[in-house]
Amino acid sequence: MRIREFTLGDYVEVASVWEQAGITVSVSDSLKGIVHKVGRDSELFLVAEENEKIVGSVMGSYDGRRGWINHLAVHPDYQGKRVGRLIMEELEQRLKKIGCKKINLLIEYDNVKVIGFYENLGYNTDELVFMEKWIK
Ligand SMILES: CC(C)(COP(=O)(O)OP(=O)(O)OC[C@H]1O[C@@H](n2cnc3c(N)ncnc32)[C@H](O)[C@@H]1OP(=O)(O)O)[C@@H](O)C(=O)NCCC(=O)NCCS
Repeated sequence: MRIREFTLGDYVEVASVWEQAGITVSVSDSLKGIVHKVGRDSELFLVAEENEKIVGSVMGSYDGRRGWINHLAVHPDYQGKRVGRLIMEELEQRLKKIGCKKINLLIEYDNVKVIGFYENLGYNTDELVFMEKWIK
């Protein structure tokens, strides 16, 4: 198992892992959106590779104050084999190295079963209301 940075050539494979893992995608996840994302902090967008096949991915970001986790996904055939833990630990190390002190993430209401996974990695829940607005 190897953890490495995402490159644009990985896009189709990573999009397939998102789909297989049930990740909700948006217009921001189009190839154009991902080109934009990679232009900002490519060292925080990671893939897990096994025998040259991408089996997991996470899109991290750092806003200068907090680290954020997006689209953590492990292919269903590889779930429960510590791929999620490995890729998250690598991302945490990278965030720490650039001065990040706290990492945030959001879980959709229909996916609360993953809370245990994040608790296992040391994350706590907080009672907050998430608000959003698409700007055009
Ligand atoms: C959530 C997900 C990324 C976890 O990845 P994974 O590779 O299956 O998890 P791991 O095998 O690395 O698990 C790491 C640890 O958490 C534990 N764990 C995993 N899922 C758990 C759960 N639901 N509740 C409690 N503990 C859990 C494991 O037992 C393991 O413990 P250990 O390292 O102490 O032995 C993966 O299941 C997935 O892709 N799910 C679908 C997409 C998704 O929901 N992504 C998150 C969006 S917020």
